[in-house]
Amino acid sequence: MTDKQENDFTMSHINFNQLDPAIEKRVTDLMAQMTLDEKIGQMSQLFLGKEVTPTIDLSRIREGRAGSVLTMYGAADLNVLQKAAVEESRLGIPLLFGNDVIHGYRTIFPIPLAEACSWDMDLIEESARIASEEAAADGTHWIFAPMVDTCREPRWGRIAEGSGEDPFLGSEIGRARVRGFQSDSHASGKKVVSCPKHFAAYGFSEAGKDYNSVDISEQTLRDMVLPPFQATFDEGAGTIMSAFNDLNGVPATGNRRLLRTILRDEMGFNGIVLSDWNAIGELVPHGFAADNRHAGLRAIHAGVDMDMTTDAYEDYLADQIANGEVPVEYVDDAVRRILRIKFMLGLFEDPYTVERDHSDIFLTPAYRETALEMTRKSMVLLKNEGVLPLAKTTTKIALIGPLANDHHEILGTWFRIGEDGDTESVLDGLRQVVPDAEIALAEGCHLYEDSENVVAAATIAAEADVAILVLGEGEFMSGEAHCRADISLPGHQQLLLEAVHATGTPVVVVLMGGRPITIPWMDDNVPAILMAWHGGIRTGRAVADLLFGNATPSGKLPVSWPRSVGQIPIYYNYKNTGRPSDGDGTYQFNKVHYSNYQDESNAPQYPFGYGLSYTQFSYSELVIENARPSLNETLTVRVTITNTGDVAGDEIAQLYVRDLVGEVTRPVRELKGFQTVSLAPGASETIQFEVPVQSLGFTGIDGTYLVEPGQFDLWVGGDSSAALKSSFEVTA
Ligand code: NOJ
Repeated sequence: MTDKQENDFTMSHINFNQLDPAIEKRVTDLMAQMTLDEKIGQMSQLFLGKEVTPTIDLSRIREGRAGSVLTMYGAADLNVLQKAAVEESRLGIPLLFGNDVIHGYRTIFPIPLAEACSWDMDLIEESARIASEEAAADGTHWIFAPMVDTCREPRWGRIAEGSGEDPFLGSEIGRARVRGFQSDSHASGKKVVSCPKHFAAYGFSEAGKDYNSVDISEQTLRDMVLPPFQATFDEGAGTIMSAFNDLNGVPATGNRRLLRTILRDEMGFNGIVLSDWNAIGELVPHGFAADNRHAGLRAIHAGVDMDMTTDAYEDYLADQIANGEVPVEYVDDAVRRILRIKFMLGLFEDPYTVERDHSDIFLTPAYRETALEMTRKSMVLLKNEGVLPLAKTTTKIALIGPLANDHHEILGTWFRIGEDGDTESVLDGLRQVVPDAEIALAEGCHLYEDSENVVAAATIAAEADVAILVLGEGEFMSGEAHCRADISLPGHQQLLLEAVHATGTPVVVVLMGGRPITIPWMDDNVPAILMAWHGGIRTGRAVADLLFGNATPSGKLPVSWPRSVGQIPIYYNYKNTGRPSDGDGTYQFNKVHYSNYQDESNAPQYPFGYGLSYTQFSYSELVIENARPSLNETLTVRVTITNTGDVAGDEIAQLYVRDLVGEVTRPVRELKGFQTVSLAPGASETIQFEVPVQSLGFTGIDGTYLVEPGQFDLWVGGDSSAALKSSFEVTA
């Protein structure tokens, strides 16, 4: 769907949805030997601690009553468990080892939301492949990622783990990550299966509170939430994880319509459905099940194949089958799916992981270099009024802020076996890039507590040529269960910012975090702001390269960035309403009977797709080749992009459409294509988008997908507020 001329996918990957008759036969033969208890055992995923201890209880594995173990890392420990399964259980069925490898295993990359800012599918795929390569060499078979939850909610800590608010971009990124995780070119020869999550609609948790209820329309579910999942299945993802949340009143993990009708029958998914952690047990507090027995019954009927940690299947399923409460076919289907993946991964032939020195696989120079490239492309230049890039001849730098010399927070929310010692702080990066500069360092304030020493910071700022302030969130302020109601700068950081700004020394803010942070004062007052997110091990070097012009920023936001919490949810593909505000939103009572606030603009601080460069790009000659396409044709759109500035740069060109009239109201814009062009100063390039008319549809009133003939507007530009416009008419 996306024009892929920029993205030359050369690596091959495993498609776990392509069935192999030889494997199907092996599954059938093995299942014929299994007792019901052994089958149910395959449907249980155990947590046995983070490492093997002298008191670890392996009895269930030896008895063939465990199919998988999660959240243990390292070949030596995992081999102990595998030996119990393969050599000490009756049938010797290997265990599947699952882990959260979200943005790197040892080589820690930027958080997924940051990587999404690159809009670079090759690089995102390679980042996932490296994570998978390292994890596989250390014993992991099953990666609980990518998180493909479409999300409009920056209060929700898990926005850090996804690809933002757009289903089209989210689908492309989901595909790229699946290709990377399921690469078939790991040096160890090991294979990995990915687990897109959380099915479904977890990203729509009300009020940004984790695990909260989700109440959305059928249209939002089908048009915003499901497409990235479908994309990952099409790419061959072999498993999915069911979500914690209730969806329109029915918890996802007990939701038969969601997991059987929609997932299996409509979306055609034939892989493993794994519950999230104790999500079966949580059907009880949801008020959807009376107790764990009832919860297990709900889950098996809904279509959950494997129970992560509740043990509801282990404890009650045999009895429920004996009583006729559960058809035995449900168990057979689930076990077939589980064994199929084990065979496809080659675990029966090669169940163990070689215990070895990993210095040639972990954190290699090539991986560190890829991480640096990814990190530079993840950062987004939010504002620049003639300050950046800084001259390399800058002599006196005041480097200020609680994150200025940080080696830990930059690792981000899921840093796995990454180590603080692997990282480069911003101070380290500056020392590499401007070794002759005199750098004075001051923390200025605590990261989040109300304690500060802004006077010392202001003093060094007053004496410097430039003050670089490194502000934002710690790694523990985003991610699972780390939601915030106030997403402004934590602690006394705003105080610090204002004190340093008051010195009159030019200020550059490097902002870090796992989400957009509300910064209206900063945007009004500070001349340059670079969003660095949590960039992983190469954060410091990437920041220094961008600040001093060794690289030109190119990242673009995959989310709308709010001015204030009161605007949330804020997203670019909103509906026009019957009383639309005038364009960028109005302010202070000037248009009272329209869809706006009395005390806040409708416009985001920075729109979806936005990001500055050190050069400028102009768009011209927008041409739609076939402006009256029929339903099964493809729209061909051309536009010329010119680099009108003084330095070379990359531009991520985005194509948006609006369906003017629909049987269901349509968003004011929808992303339907993007491409990156690299242009020398003064150079122009004409690029072409191919947009299938069938990709312009939506879920109609009856719940089915339709593309309606009629008028559409189309824009191409550098973000979702692009002005260069044309139109076309889809004919019947
Ligand atoms: C709970 C999280 O929601 C999920 O994303 C993760 O994969 C599991 N725990 C396993 O750690």
